[in-house]
Amino acid sequence: MPYSIAIDGPAGAGKSTIAKAVARELGYVYIDTGAMYRTVGYYCICNGIPINDETSVVEHTKDIDISIAYDDSGVQQVFLNGENVSSKIRTQEVGEAASKVSQYQPVRDKLVSLQQKLASKASVVMDGRDIGSKVLPDADTKIYLTASVEERARRRARELEQRGESCDIREVEREIAERDHRDMNRANSPLVQVPDAVLVDSSDLTIDETIDAILDIAMKR
Ligand code: DC
Repeated sequence: MPYSIAIDGPAGAGKSTIAKAVARELGYVYIDTGAMYRTVGYYCICNGIPINDETSVVEHTKDIDISIAYDDSGVQQVFLNGENVSSKIRTQEVGEAASKVSQYQPVRDKLVSLQQKLASKASVVMDGRDIGSKVLPDADTKIYLTASVEERARRRARELEQRGESCDIREVEREIAERDHRDMNRANSPLVQVPDAVLVDSSDLTIDETIDAILDIAMKR
């Protein structure tokens, strides 16, 4: 039976950096589920599909092909109808679109089934919003990884600057708070800390300390 570690938490908590490192350490496959919702959002933006219109989004995205593969360094790549869109989906605009389309149940059903298929084949560290609650309710280890809004905004701003995108920290903070609110209050699979998840607050932890904390928790299970 493959093992699974579910890491859920709000935007900018460092889930992907941490999950990637934990997977490498344990020899598991890392699965970034946010990238899949971002791909749906990206498709809508590119094709002029009105993001707030559920019927239209569902109708136009039900047959798109989303798949993942790993490059030579083991980094997840996501493909949209065969095209590698991994770098194109990392913008703030696509993140917003992902948060909106992820509210629609048919979009979730399509991606959750892909995620569950992947986790049935190999031991995984999977990060997202509903992994412990819906995708892998029987995960061996469940983590709820968070940090204060201020700290998450600082990290996101640093990341954007490194990519050469200018930003206003207050604006980033406002967008994060808004995204948290939408992700936590939507009707379908909202972000929650499930009762069997262990809370890890990384506000005052370095990346290495956070990785060690999660490895520690996983080892004790
Ligand atoms: O983790 P991220 O920023 O790449 O995710 C983008 C959006 O996708 C997030 O705001 C909500 C949605 N999402 C989701 O609903 N469920 C998941 N398992 C992962 C992401």
